[in-house]
Amino acid sequence: MVTIKQMEKSDIAYAKSLTDIEGWGHLEEDFERFLSLDPAGCYVAWYDGERAGIVTSVSYGDRAFLGNLIVRKDRRGMGIGVKLMEEAIGHLDRRRMKTIELDGVFKAVQTYRLLGFKDKYLSLRFARQASEGSFNKEPNSVECVQDIEEILSFDRQKTGIDRKDFLMDLLNGQADTTYISRQRDICGYVVTRERETGVLHIGPMVAGDASTASDLMTAICAKHGDRNLTIGVPCIHTAAVSVVMKHGFLHRPPSLRMFRGSRMEYERNVYAIVSADAG
Ligand SMILES: CC(C)(COP(=O)(O)OP(=O)(O)OC[C@H]1O[C@@H](n2cnc3c(N)ncnc32)[C@H](O)[C@@H]1OP(=O)(O)O)[C@@H](O)C(=O)NCCC(=O)NCCS
Repeated sequence: MVTIKQMEKSDIAYAKSLTDIEGWGHLEEDFERFLSLDPAGCYVAWYDGERAGIVTSVSYGDRAFLGNLIVRKDRRGMGIGVKLMEEAIGHLDRRRMKTIELDGVFKAVQTYRLLGFKDKYLSLRFARQASEGSFNKEPNSVECVQDIEEILSFDRQKTGIDRKDFLMDLLNGQADTTYISRQRDICGYVVTRERETGVLHIGPMVAGDASTASDLMTAICAKHGDRNLTIGVPCIHTAAVSVVMKHGFLHRPPSLRMFRGSRMEYERNVYAIVSADAG
C-alpha cells in the first residue's frame, strides 16, 4: 500500500541517495533549501513502511517548478511516480500557482502530458571539459558579489519572476562564486556551484545582453577552465546557445521544458537556468 507524506528533514539523506543513483550531483543543502522555502511542497512515497520515492517543488511567487521525481528502481511501474506528481500538483494548485513548470526526461514526457503539462521547449544541457593550461584566477572584468539585494532586484527586473527567497538562500551560500558584470549599475550576474559529481555547475546566469553574458562566461572559463563545467540553457534563447557554444561547451542530452497552467515567457535575459530541479 502506497502513502505519500510531506518530506521531513529526516528524509533528506534518503532523497539525496536517490539522486546519487541517478547521477544528478545534488547536495543535501539543495533539499534543505526546498524544504525551508516550502515545507509542504516536497513529498516522499512510502510503500510497506519503506521509503519508495520523492518529488520536490519550489515556488517563485505565483510560479512553481517541480523536480526530483524519482521512484526506487524496484518499485517502478506501480503508479507511485504519478501519485507523487498528483500530490505535488494538488498542493501547488491549492496555492493558486499560475503556472507549474518542469524539465522532463523524454521517457516521462507522455506521463506529464497526461497530468496536464504541455510542451514548451527543449531545455538544453551542455558540458565543457576541464582543460590544461594557466588560468587567471582573478579575472578583472567581473566582481564578486558585495550586495545581494542588488542582484535580487536585477533578477526580478530582467525575468519578471519573484525569485527573491530562493536566490537569497542560494546566494548566501555562494557569494564567493557569484560574479557580476557592471557598467555603472549591474548588467549581468552568474552563480557557479560545486556539485556532488565534482563538476562546477553554472547557473543561474541573467544578463541584459549577449555581450555581457559572453564576458561573464569568458571570466568563468578563465577562472575555472581547469574544472569540468555544466550549464542548462533554454533552446528558444538562441543568443544564449551561441554564448555557450562559442566558449567550447558541447551538447548533452536535453530535457523537455513543460508547463501546466498559463504559459509564461521570462527567458529573454536568461542565459543559464538554475538547474533541472529549480528551473
Ligand atoms: C519517472 C519515474 C519517477 C516514474 O515512476 P513510476 O513509479 O515507475 O511511474 P508510474 O508507475 O506512476 O508510471 C508512470 C509512467 O512512467 C513512465 N516511465 C516508465 N519507465 C520510465 C523511466 N525509466 N523513466 C521515465 N519514465 C518512465 C511510463 O510512461 C509510465 O507510464 P505507463 O505506466 O503508461 O507505462 C521513474 O521511472 C524514475 O524514477 N525514473 C528515474 C528518474 C527520472 O528519470 N525521473 C524523471 C525526471 S523528469
